[in-house]
Amino acid sequence: MKILAHRGASGYAPENTISAIKMALFDMPCDGIEIDVHLTKDKQLVVIHDDTIDRTTDGKGNVKDYTYEELLEFNAYGKFKDKYPTEKIPTLDEVLSLVKESGKMINIEVKNGSSFYPGIEEKVISKLYDHSLTSDTLLSSFDHGAMKLCKQIDKNIRTGLLCRKKVENPKEYGRLHYADAYNYRYLCLTKKYVDELRSYGYEVNCYTPNAKFEINYMIKCGVDTIISNYPDRVKDLLRK
Ligand code: G3P
Ligand code: CA
Repeated sequence: MKILAHRGASGYAPENTISAIKMALFDMPCDGIEIDVHLTKDKQLVVIHDDTIDRTTDGKGNVKDYTYEELLEFNAYGKFKDKYPTEKIPTLDEVLSLVKESGKMINIEVKNGSSFYPGIEEKVISKLYDHSLTSDTLLSSFDHGAMKLCKQIDKNIRTGLLCRKKVENPKEYGRLHYADAYNYRYLCLTKKYVDELRSYGYEVNCYTPNAKFEINYMIKCGVDTIISNYPDRVKDLLRK
């Protein structure tokens, strides 16, 4: 069972920042990280969760209305202002360099597809080639059309469908979107459903169990990957 640090080690450092990402990649017992990407006004891929910078930085406004240079003015301290007062919004390039150095893996969540960010799928895939990170990386999105497009652009790229609730006819639905994996909200899953999805050939990953009882439940369900804010907690429970 793999463990991914959700938005980096976001239980301990500001989500989707270099500090949280380095902590997960170099100091934590996990297999890699999950992060979120958006496009800036000048078409740079940046690592941040929301469409806006309001919640996680000291600024306001849409990511897509700022150039990357302009975004560097803001501090991305999120919930950790005292300990990490001067974090910047990272680029995907910076993060991929660290992933490469660590030898761990990355799951990149594409936050919106081409209807919102024209060309984002090609840009993300191109970055994976720039960093020689195509084989072990998983792309995922709630925008299932974006994942289908990624696979059409490059059949070697691994894709996962993010789901907040159970999809109807998952065997066919996944095929229609050329998906390799289902990345389900953990509350949707049971062992029976995980086994069913796996019998159709899909990898089954879950987000975001953080409490011990939630993590233990996912371990019992036998998912392929647990994506958690507390990767160290998952590792401890797996050892028991
Ligand atoms: O990729 C798993 C999870 O991150 C999806 O939900 O809202 O935390 O990006 P969210
Ligand atoms: Ca995410």
